[in-house]
Amino acid sequence: MNKHPFESRLKKSFTISLDEIHKIIVNFHDEMQRGLEGKESSLKMLPAFVDTPGGDEEGRFIALDFGGTNFRVLQVALDGHGSARIERTKKYVIPKAVMHGTGTQLFNFIAQSIRNFSFIDRSESAKKKDLGFTFSFPMKQTNIANGILINWTKGFSATGVIGKNVVTLLRDSLKRSGMSRINVVALANDTVGTMAARSYKDPLCDVGVIFGTGTNACYREAIANITKLPRAARSRKNMVINIEWGNFNRLPFIPYDELLDRATNNPGKQRMEKMISGMYLGEIVRLILTDLIREKHIFARSKGKFAKGDFKTYHMSLIEADNSKNLSDIKEYLDGVGMLKTSLEERRLLKKICALVSQRAARISAAAISAVVTRMDPNLSSNHTVAVDGTLYEKYPRFRRTIMSALKEIHGRRSARIKVVRAKDGSGLGVAIVAAAAAAQH
Ligand code: GLC
Repeated sequence: MNKHPFESRLKKSFTISLDEIHKIIVNFHDEMQRGLEGKESSLKMLPAFVDTPGGDEEGRFIALDFGGTNFRVLQVALDGHGSARIERTKKYVIPKAVMHGTGTQLFNFIAQSIRNFSFIDRSESAKKKDLGFTFSFPMKQTNIANGILINWTKGFSATGVIGKNVVTLLRDSLKRSGMSRINVVALANDTVGTMAARSYKDPLCDVGVIFGTGTNACYREAIANITKLPRAARSRKNMVINIEWGNFNRLPFIPYDELLDRATNNPGKQRMEKMISGMYLGEIVRLILTDLIREKHIFARSKGKFAKGDFKTYHMSLIEADNSKNLSDIKEYLDGVGMLKTSLEERRLLKKICALVSQRAARISAAAISAVVTRMDPNLSSNHTVAVDGTLYEKYPRFRRTIMSALKEIHGRRSARIKVVRAKDGSGLGVAIVAAAAAAQH
């Protein structure tokens, strides 16, 4: 007899069967095609106006990586032979007031961080510098050095930026801060940077993915297929497409997804991101726990509760990493948040719930990766490298492994054709490569 009927109910609703995965892939292909044709689609399929790098890009660049929890400024050196190196980097926490203030405040914050960064080395600071800007939000570009913000994601809401060219806003703020010597030569999404970082040294790399605060991917498409581009702009060549897959919405949603979605500042949007990425997974678990606590299925002897935002994806990863007999790390965490007197049974249940939520995320991620690769190569007749960056992928226990085993379930032995690799710091490094390619054209 099953001790907890709710446990099997939960398990059933969070399980993504192989059948469902296949359905997701079919629908994903359909939305990709519609997006490329300019028809209504949950996938924006945004042309990035850049192809994969040649590998011979060289020079020294400033890179800005903006769009997650932190903002980073980097100085990157490219040797022209596939090696990209971070010479210097600094991380700045993006204050809440900047995420939700005005666009001017946001770009001033960026400019001030660059000033703080470049003045470390005064001898360098007088020279003209080329800069690559990673701005990890959906943008409509018409060339490599411009992009209009379509909408905010990941909880950002700064006013006066949507509909504006973010490169102009950045240039204006650099000028205001007396840094006109900095040339903004390229703008890219973080997925595009990640892919460039890997393809600089690996010609088989044709997909870039982020699993972090948000989630998204880009891939290499034949320009002839991007029929929403004006005919004159179409050629035989290839172009990177920023899919903005976080917004994909043909998925098997359950009531917890609806509950979470309604409480965000962008309801109805980024529905896949809300099932997968670091910004939301902890909140899904918290919603489940709130139900179970209310129904006295768990933590009945404790008076504690979890308020919105208290339970983070980071906590889930701690919980899932606890393999001790007594689940003592989990106990320590629960004690710390005032959830006292928990039983081993309850801690086990908590760990199981986290696994259900993270495994669902990883299986949907695998479906999406498979859909992107098979869009380019339906029968997997050649090898593909998928470059991945982001904390969730890097740090979350078994996230990568679950993706890999799902890919195997989908493609059998052919899954070996899909090589998934970590591109550490890819979004920052890669935009320097994109900037080098752009600077070389002038
Ligand atoms: C969000 C953004 C997207 C970005 C992703 C990962 O989905 O809309 O542009 O690539 O987060 O940072």
